[in-house]
Amino acid sequence: MSNKIYLNFSKKLINWYSVNKRSLPWRNTKDPYKIWLSEIILQQTQVKQGLPYYNKFIDRYPNVGSLSDSKEQDVLKNWEGLGYYSRARNLHKTSKLVVEDYKSQFPKTYDELIKLPGIGDYSASAISSFSNDEVRPVLDGNVYRFISRLFGISTVINTSGSLKEFKIILNKLICVNNPSDFNQAIMEFGALVCKPKTPNCQNCIYNKVCFSFKNKVVFDFPVKKKSAKSKSRFLNYFIIIDKNKRIMVEERTNKDIWQNLYQFPLFESDTDLNRSSLNDFLKLNKHPFSKTNDIKLIETVNHKLSHQNLKINFWLNYVDKLDDSSIYIKELSNLPFPKPLSSFIETLNKFLM
Ligand code: ADE
Repeated sequence: MSNKIYLNFSKKLINWYSVNKRSLPWRNTKDPYKIWLSEIILQQTQVKQGLPYYNKFIDRYPNVGSLSDSKEQDVLKNWEGLGYYSRARNLHKTSKLVVEDYKSQFPKTYDELIKLPGIGDYSASAISSFSNDEVRPVLDGNVYRFISRLFGISTVINTSGSLKEFKIILNKLICVNNPSDFNQAIMEFGALVCKPKTPNCQNCIYNKVCFSFKNKVVFDFPVKKKSAKSKSRFLNYFIIIDKNKRIMVEERTNKDIWQNLYQFPLFESDTDLNRSSLNDFLKLNKHPFSKTNDIKLIETVNHKLSHQNLKINFWLNYVDKLDDSSIYIKELSNLPFPKPLSSFIETLNKFLM
């Protein structure tokens, strides 16, 4: 049965792609630097959200030299809002390595790419096939979905075992004369036709051979690991402002998702913060708060991360004078902040006297 799937598979796919592909800027180039940039942005981000960031990065950093000359803080600032900030930190690290070790010529081969920070099997396969026509099948979420439905594969995806199993199939399907278009096409097919919630099975060019369509089990695939339960966290940020319109900020040094981004003084509590736990915090900390009673809760937002639900409180407190570690309020927009904080900063004026 599945032998039928292999018949003309790649020819049909590349024909479909030539008619239906979206025109995207990273598809009109063989430049490995530009392709790398697009793939890092698109790793955990939809095309619609990633496209403006890609254009901004190409505009500000047209080549690997300009990226390596920039400050990490500026790269993080330009990345603000995209999330998964380790991608931006690795982008900067990799640019420096390429300038030093490859004389600013961005590598094109899988074997060189896979050694660079932030580049795993998926990115190395994508970049080497697009820029260097290497026969390296890509396996992203779109491809896992499409192939598991097509063949009816019940293996749990995103494990090292599933990578091997799916690669065996893809190595049989891939067009060795045009691996670049094949890889673009298979991802595009998953994104536009074999979609997660609303697959267009009626018009699918493979519906006569698709295991899951024929057996009416399309939504049983792909089989995913049970995701860990989201953890709730309670973050309290203190907006401390003085008479000269200066505000306290600090850099996050914890090795976590928001490392090297900025924040306001933070107190994390086990439950939603009340007055008594607020007092406990103030006793233990040396921030120059005025009287506790003058601290006002001005905003509460919920922010969902992939495995965490954040409940964020912003507390406002006016003081006489802050020291030089503070900055002017108008300078906030120069620094990189996590998304819920940059959104709050945009509305900060409405809370101020
Ligand atoms: N997602 C990841 N890589 C992509 C690409 N090259 N084009 C469209 N979507 C993608």
